[in-house]
Amino acid sequence: MSRPNILVMNGPNLSRLGKREPEIYGRTTLEEINNGLVKAFPEAGFGFFQSEHEGALIDKLFEVEDNGSWAGVVLNAGALTHYSIALRDAIAAVRVPVIEVHLSNIYAREEFRRKSVISEVCAGVIGGFGVDSYHLGVRGVLSLLGK
Ligand code: DQA
Repeated sequence: MSRPNILVMNGPNLSRLGKREPEIYGRTTLEEINNGLVKAFPEAGFGFFQSEHEGALIDKLFEVEDNGSWAGVVLNAGALTHYSIALRDAIAAVRVPVIEVHLSNIYAREEFRRKSVISEVCAGVIGGFGVDSYHLGVRGVLSLLGK
């Protein structure tokens, strides 16, 4: 695979980045994050997908798996991280590696955020670096590919 394709997936409420609780999540919009990734990693191809809906994220994951041309997924599942067994099972059901990312350090926040039900089935976990978490997630996919 010469130019790996990486899908950056975002779950509920991440469409509101920039306006949403900026003291926690910063002032960068999701579009700016995505554009920053394209600029920072010319060696990769990117796809972007955001949904407020659990089922839409699962559908997308299976589409990526069946398509066969994706090297990995960088996933910020938002609050679904903490309770979606359906999303966890979907990640477990695919071979494409999924890297879990969070802008904030979920282990330094409210009790209910200190548990991720998806970490166990993800290839790696990154959190607490703000926008850089996405960049580190992409690095993670490239590192899995030996690049
Ligand atoms: C988040 C952390 C989650 O707890 C929260 O529900 C989010 C964003 C993060 O990126 O820090 O929506 O995934």
